[in-house]
Amino acid sequence: MKAVHHIVLLLLVILHSVHGKFLILGPDEPVLAIAGEDVRLECQLVPDLSVSNMEVQWLKSGLDSPVHVYRNGEDAQHRDYRGRTELLKHELTKGTIILLIKNTTVFDGGKYTCFVDDRTNSGETAVTLKVIVGNTINKLKS
Ligand SMILES: *[C@@H]1O[C@H](CO)[C@@H](O)[C@H](O)[C@H]1NC(C)=O
Repeated sequence: MKAVHHIVLLLLVILHSVHGKFLILGPDEPVLAIAGEDVRLECQLVPDLSVSNMEVQWLKSGLDSPVHVYRNGEDAQHRDYRGRTELLKHELTKGTIILLIKNTTVFDGGKYTCFVDDRTNSGETAVTLKVIVGNTINKLKS
C-alpha cells in the first residue's frame, strides 16, 4: 500500500513538473509541542523550487485572517501571534517553508494550512499542531 502511494505521488510530481506546477507536501503525523516552547511547522515544495518570490500563507482553521503571510518580501502576522511567528527565509530558496512559532500556548493547537501561490499556480497542504501543557507530562509520569 505504501509503495502504491509512492508511485502515485511520483506520477503526480512528474505530471505537475511538466506543466510548471508544484505540489506542497507536509508531515504525515501531527506536530507536537509543549506549551511555552517554540515549534516549527514545515511544508515542502516539490519540485524544490525557490519560494522566495512566491506568496506564502500559513492559515489556521477558525481564524478570520492568516496566521502569517509572506508577500513581496514582506511579513505580516495575525494579532494573536504578534511577535511570535517567523518564516525562516534562508530555507525558502530550497522550497522549504518553515514557520517558527515561539512561546506556544494550548490555543495555538489546531489545523494549519500551508498555502503557496506563484500567480500562475498554487498549492496547499494541511499541518496539524498539538500543544500539550508540560504539567500533563509530569502527571502522566507520576
Ligand atoms: C510566553 O507566553 C506567556 C503567556 O502565554 C507569557 O506570560 C510569557 O511571558 C511569554 N514568555 C516569553 C518568553 O515571551
